[in-house]
Parts: sequence; structure tokens; C-alpha cells
Amino acid sequence: MNRLWNPIELGRVRLSNRLAMAPLTRSRAHADGTPGTLAAEYYAQRASFGLIVAEGTQPSADGQGYHGSPGLHTAEHVAGWSAVTHAVHDAGGHIFIQLMHAGRIAHPDNTPHHRQPVAPSAIAPAEKMFTQGGLKDIPSPRALSRAQIQDTVDDHARAATLAIEAGADGVEIHAANGYLIQQFLSVNANQRQDGYGGGIAQRARFALEVVEAVSAAIGADRTGIRLSPGSRFGNIDEGAERDPLYHHLVSELAKHPLAYLHLAHSGDDTLLTELRRRWPGTLILNRIDRPLQALAADIDTGLADMASVGRWALANPDLVARLRSGAALNEADPATFYGGDAHGYTDYPFMQTLLPASA
Ligand SMILES: Cc1cc2nc3c(=O)[nH]c(=O)nc-3n(C[C@H](O)[C@H](O)[C@H](O)COP(=O)(O)O)c2cc1C
Repeated sequence: MNRLWNPIELGRVRLSNRLAMAPLTRSRAHADGTPGTLAAEYYAQRASFGLIVAEGTQPSADGQGYHGSPGLHTAEHVAGWSAVTHAVHDAGGHIFIQLMHAGRIAHPDNTPHHRQPVAPSAIAPAEKMFTQGGLKDIPSPRALSRAQIQDTVDDHARAATLAIEAGADGVEIHAANGYLIQQFLSVNANQRQDGYGGGIAQRARFALEVVEAVSAAIGADRTGIRLSPGSRFGNIDEGAERDPLYHHLVSELAKHPLAYLHLAHSGDDTLLTELRRRWPGTLILNRIDRPLQALAADIDTGLADMASVGRWALANPDLVARLRSGAALNEADPATFYGGDAHGYTDYPFMQTLLPASA
């Protein structure tokens, strides 16, 4: 591992290394969406990652899908996130907040308002999800009107502005893993015929409008985006045109001087190589289930500029120091991923301080 530990400029900030903490929903926010009391400590513990991408955060009340996810659309949310960003900065780190509109991957039982989920088309994902009342079928969503699509674009821009007000270094637009933006990209979730569905350019339109609005609000150099081409999460199917869809989308994104493109990737390296060719900017690569020994490989070959990790970051607040010293790692405990208290959140141990041999 060599270039992994080199610094890198990311938009307006200089990161001390190229290892990022991937966004991880932990479902520990207060009922109103304000980050929980332990969130500042949890993220500050992980400040030695070059970049922290904080968990999926709803830009509006309707953007919430899971119980306990944080928001960025009220004054209370801004105050809660300010405590987080200040703690991370005081510990020497950098933090982008992921803006995540869950779209149809939502259940009325999980939100304070109990409204029907929204989506590009009124098509249920045919999946179940955990709710406050147990595992339930996800109900059919309501299709957004054109005016509501514009409102949703505006919600992302407003949330980005609030993220900066709260002291974040930037935001990551969540266009991956089957949530609202990927629902627009997907042929089986988007059957609109009004300029936001149909062909490739129409399906990519919502994603690009969000990028333009967020960039206009806070600057392209504080705006990142996450994609997961071909991911089937949330019963997504991008169809036979998957590759041309992502070729188009990434080429259009490349017209904006964004802080970064973050790819959640499992599998098709031919597509990955082609997307790299179309993306001249900073590329953060999250190879799902990647062995840690391979973290630096993509950076050393130039395929990616940074690597991100999810579960190892969750379980090892000092992963950077552990990897650099070859220390053993804590294993993540899936039973404490979502919801609960400090256990499995802020109590993963740091490695023992190494004593000099003479001590
Ligand atoms: C508990 C948990 C929560 C996650 N929450 C998010 C999220 O909020 N946003 C997102 O883009 N990905 C989310 N992911 C996906 C991770 O960012 C990452 O892509 C995935 O864990 C694969 O990387 P890994 O093999 O390094 O863990 C989550 C994954 C886990 C395990």
C-alpha cells in the first residue's frame, strides 16, 4: 500500500489520505431526524479516514425511507449536523453528508408523517422492509407530478445549502442502491412518458437536474455523486441498455467539475474501465466485499483515485492506523448495524497503543 496514504485535493479540501469511509445508515437519529446524541462522537472517532461520507440523509420529509435516518431540512437538523461536523473537524477530518431520497423504498410506519412513499411511477418494488411494526410489504408508491419533481430537485439544493450551513465540507448525491434517483434511471421503476422516462436521456434527466441544482447552490467542487451501475438493490432493473445509460450519464456528469464520482461496484470491470475513461475527475471506488489487501491496487493502477470501505470502517474507528501498522481488525457485528445505542456504534475498541520495545 503506497499511494493510498498519499494526500489528495478533493474540491476545496486537502485530504490526508485516500481512504474514505463509505456512507453507512445507522438508524440512530432522533424521531424528528436530528442526528442522535452519539453521532458526533461516532464520526469524530473516524476522523483519520481521508474522507468521511456520512450516512444517507433525507433532504425532505418525503425522502425518508427508514426509521431513525437523519434529515437536513429543519433548523434542528442543522444544529445536530453542526455538532457532528465540528467534532470531525476538531479531530482533523473532513466530512461530506450523503443526501438520500429513498423514493419507493419507504414505509409509512417509518416516518413521523406516515404518508405514502413517492416514486417516478406507481410501481411497488415487490420487497419487504423492516418497520416499527416488524417486517412488512413495501406499499405501492404515488407517482410524482412534474411540479413535485421540480420541488424534489429544489429540496436537494436546499438540503445541500443547509449541509454547508452546518459546516459540512460538501454533499454526496445518492444516485445508487435502488433509491429515488436510481429509480428514475431504471426501466422497471420508471415508466414515465413525460420527459423524465422513456429513453436513456430522459431517465438520466432527474439525476442531472439534481446535480445541476446542488452544484448551483453550493458549488460543483463541494458536490459528489454516488452511482451503483447494475445494482439490483430495491428490485432495480436498468435493462439491456444499462451500459449505454451509464456511458451517457457519466459523460454528462463529466461536464460538471464535481468534487468526485463515487462508484459502488460489484462485478463488471469492463463497464468500470469505460466509466473511468469517461470520468476525468476524482473517482472513489467502493468494491463491495473487497479484500483489504487489495485496497491500494486500483489507486496504484490509476483506475481510481481513492478507495472507500463500509463495514471495516464501521467496526474499526482507527482503520487507517491499523492498516498502516498491520494490526488485527475488529469484526463488524450486523446485529447492531441499525438502531440501538452506543453498543456496536461508538464502542468498537481502538487498537492498543503500541509501547516501545524497551518499555
Ligand atoms: C449498515 C450499512 C448501511 C449502509 N448505508 C448506506 C447508505 O446510507 N448509503 C449508501 O450509499 N450505501 C450504504 N451502504 C452501502 C455501503 O456504503 C457499501 O457500499 C457496502 O457496505 C459495501 O462496501 P463494504 O464491502 O466495504 O462494506 C450501507 C451498508 C451497510 C452495511
